[in-house]
Amino acid sequence: MIPLSTCFALVLLATQAYCIPAIGNQKRQSTLPSFVNTYAPIVYLHSTENYFPSDLSAQLANTKPEVNYTVVSGAPNPLTLDNLDSLNALGGTSVYLTSIDDTTSNPQPQWLKGVVPDSTGKTDGAVSCSIIVCDYGNGTVDAYYMYFYAYNWGGTVLGLNFDDHVGDWEHTMTRFSNGVPQTMWLSQHEDGEAFDFSAIPKYNNGLRPIVYSANGSHANYATSGTHDHTIPGLDLPFGVFLVDYTNDGYLWDPTLNAYYASVSFPSGTTPVFASYDSSTPVNWLNFVGAWGDEQYPTSYPGQYDIFGEYRYTSGPTGPEDKDLNRGDGTCPAGIPDPCVILPTVIAGEKV
Ligand SMILES: *[C@@H]1O[C@H](CO)[C@@H](O)[C@H](O)[C@H]1NC(C)=O
Ligand SMILES: *[C@@H]1O[C@H](CO)[C@@H](O)[C@H](O)[C@H]1NC(C)=O
Ligand SMILES: *[C@@H]1O[C@H](CO)[C@@H](O)[C@H](O)[C@H]1NC(C)=O
Repeated sequence: MIPLSTCFALVLLATQAYCIPAIGNQKRQSTLPSFVNTYAPIVYLHSTENYFPSDLSAQLANTKPEVNYTVVSGAPNPLTLDNLDSLNALGGTSVYLTSIDDTTSNPQPQWLKGVVPDSTGKTDGAVSCSIIVCDYGNGTVDAYYMYFYAYNWGGTVLGLNFDDHVGDWEHTMTRFSNGVPQTMWLSQHEDGEAFDFSAIPKYNNGLRPIVYSANGSHANYATSGTHDHTIPGLDLPFGVFLVDYTNDGYLWDPTLNAYYASVSFPSGTTPVFASYDSSTPVNWLNFVGAWGDEQYPTSYPGQYDIFGEYRYTSGPTGPEDKDLNRGDGTCPAGIPDPCVILPTVIAGEKV
């Protein structure tokens, strides 16, 4: 237990407000604010989805850490959520958790498909969400709901797939003021949208906002329907667009199989994660590498490169890389700039 006096001292020494301090990876005394679950999103997965929310530990069991397509030597075996961050000293941001099986086989390895939520919305047996709470100590609390999928299917343009990759982290963030939800951020590819919390439709007209996870890419939208988004940098002729599809195919309640942690920034920049209880692994949150394979070289069977866009791209970094210290903003720093909080949702076109 961290003595209360230590916490108070740290707060007093602070030159600016920051998330409530925690020391190293030790447990902190505070408990999870109840509003984090009360107002947690309900996620709707698309009715044609093939790549469901996935277990974090399964990702480790089915991959090996590589740097430059070569297995990292000296890594712990097995890798677990408790020792994953030891890879930070063995390659750090160059480490890719690389599938042991060929991910391009037909059919693909089953573990890439994740776990279909059961009738209660639970991904039974799979911890597929990480909920991270940043308490600034001044009434403002940001709750990050980080959704994990073992695979991202990027969609098709002119019948060709782009941006398929192992590992997919998406998130929404709800900003609370004195326990009352104010705004929400929805991540969408390299970008996203921010809304007034009151603008987002609620599940059963209750307290919990509905988030639609796009088929394959798992980008988060506030409405059901079709959402155009061009591939950043892709300048195809004939005005071709890549499209995300959302609908209320499968109900997923991410709180039913989630790990909970707090984050604080005692030094200003480096996140310090702490769990709310003794049973929750937390060290993995410090891992700075990627949760999937490095982009396959063009010589790899099935890989292609059209106008600089690849079929198979690299896996993403984890929650620590999502700007968990947003201060005054609801959006991650600079995405988009300025951060516009939309007062209403715009319905997607119907499919
Ligand atoms: C959803 O993704 C699957 C691939 O996982 C694809 O076959 C299907 O056509 C997609 N659905 C839509 C509506 O695009
Ligand atoms: C990656 O490995 C290849 C082949 O062993 C080597 O030629 C290349 O220099 C390596 N690149 C880096 C960045 O280490
Ligand atoms: C709370 O603290 C954060 C971090 O210093 C700051 O960015 C934000 O403006 C503060 N909010 C209020 C309402 O004082």
